[in-house]
Amino acid sequence: MAQRIAVIAGDGVGPEVIAEGIKVLRATGLPLAFDELAWGSELYERSGAMMPPDALATLRGYDAIYLGAIGWPTVPDHVSLWECLLPIRQAFAQCVNLRPVRLLPGIRSPLAERGPDDVDMLFVRENTEGEYAGAGGRAHRGTRAELAVEVPIFTRYAIERCARYAFERACERGGRLISVTKSNASRHTYVLWDEVVADVGAEFPGVTVERILVDAMAARMVSNPGSVDVVVASNLFGDILTDLGGAIQGSLGLAASANLALDDSGPSMFEPVHGSAPDIAGQRRANPIGAVWAGALMLRELGHGAAADGVEAAIAAVCRDGRTLTRDCGGSASTADVGDALAAALSRSATEPPGRRGRI
Ligand code: IPM
Ligand code: MN
Repeated sequence: MAQRIAVIAGDGVGPEVIAEGIKVLRATGLPLAFDELAWGSELYERSGAMMPPDALATLRGYDAIYLGAIGWPTVPDHVSLWECLLPIRQAFAQCVNLRPVRLLPGIRSPLAERGPDDVDMLFVRENTEGEYAGAGGRAHRGTRAELAVEVPIFTRYAIERCARYAFERACERGGRLISVTKSNASRHTYVLWDEVVADVGAEFPGVTVERILVDAMAARMVSNPGSVDVVVASNLFGDILTDLGGAIQGSLGLAASANLALDDSGPSMFEPVHGSAPDIAGQRRANPIGAVWAGALMLRELGHGAAADGVEAAIAAVCRDGRTLTRDCGGSASTADVGDALAAALSRSATEPPGRRGRI
């Protein structure tokens, strides 16, 4: 039976890149059924809501969610995101946001003299709380005493499940984990973060943990990217550092993410990191590789590891070849050209003997 994917292409370049993602996922030949849900800022303009009232119940019935981007200048960002993306991450306890940061052969990093061997990081971002918990409020609106309070929430439970996932990934990779913190200036939240990471670390004696302050981490990613392997970070720190990661890997347009529900709270959601990019929307020049790569992460979570490897190998092949890349990567190809090249690379590699198939 086909696995069912809810597609929220969303706003701006979202529909453009998701169309290419679906093209490539279809080219795998897997039995996947895509249901496109026309939710987002256009619906908001028509109906006053980003999603229908029963949206979460609808999404719960799917095996995965494939999302393009949410956010458009006509709707305040805090409205569009708090009525769509963030409730989905929270309602389905998508507690880990997994973001690989890898420089692919053929892609130029802005870091001088750094190549693919120097940039291969895996970010495990806590995805439900911290500064994104939504706790707070405003008072005395419109007066000189107006105030706003946004309270970061950190729970042992959420830190623990995210940290455990990160330690497991570190075990599979180099046995090294960086925990990003700010427990010098923060007296409570990041102190708890450090304690919980240390507690979970006791279960993984084979993993070496480094605790790095977020400001120092930003510098380290630029000055010594090769020393960074698996990273666990809070929601906000992970958000900021993975945009830096996207830049280091050559373009934010290449960056992919997986919002993982680690229990049966609901489906996981897969999306490119870049957002709706209103400045280039409709110009057919958005890079679809982040969305396609997110599709590969989705295939892996749906149990199609070999197909996921195949899609990643197609991405690597198109980047290595270098002739069909969008402007952000120094080329002049359109969004659809890149999607076509990826689909073609995928079919080519399917006919090659396994030994010749390069993984990312
Ligand atoms: C991301 C985005 C979102 C986030 C925004 C759109 C709320 O920047 O997925 O990185 O901050 O999580
Ligand atoms: Mn972000």
